[in-house]
Amino acid sequence: MDAVRASASCTLAHVPAPAFTARLNEQIAYEFAASQQYIAVAVYYDSETLPRLAAFFYAQALEERNHAMMMVRYLMDADEEPVIPPVAAPRNSFSDIVEPVAIALEQEKRVTDQIGELAGIARDERDYVSEQFMQWFLKEQVEEVSSMSDLLTVVKRSADNPMLAEEHLAREAVGAQGTDPTAPPVAGGAV
Ligand code: FEO
Repeated sequence: MDAVRASASCTLAHVPAPAFTARLNEQIAYEFAASQQYIAVAVYYDSETLPRLAAFFYAQALEERNHAMMMVRYLMDADEEPVIPPVAAPRNSFSDIVEPVAIALEQEKRVTDQIGELAGIARDERDYVSEQFMQWFLKEQVEEVSSMSDLLTVVKRSADNPMLAEEHLAREAVGAQGTDPTAPPVAGGAV
């Protein structure tokens, strides 16, 4: 298909492949759902008076929200219609301090598969601009799976003494990576 078209305002917009647009709209829902799940996890740790674990997941929730809004922005910039979706209900109760991180790691692995699938659709459709757009998310997923996997090791070791996990997070400044200048733009600006 034609990868470039002139819009009414005479600006040139990249036209993503329809199959990619449809699947990216689905992904927006998964990213918002991930954000909601992380808020639920953060609130759980907050209510258990584990502020470092809570802060880690409050920050992760914002990251996931920003991922969704990067996808929204990408579609808007391409003159496509983003769909702001209903969001699946998150898990709100957990048996111990380990379970939320185990759920988070599974979620990140699932999202990694989804992002790979999106990159694959873009490539199959010869939509190389969209394939390139997904590259940042692939890199991000490698980091998120790795950090969540590390955190799972830490909380498992700290299951009987959660303050060990709190001390680890404080000592290692986990979650304080700062902003990434290579990140795609966020609709409305990053929060
Ligand atoms: Fe945006 Fe880590 O999934």
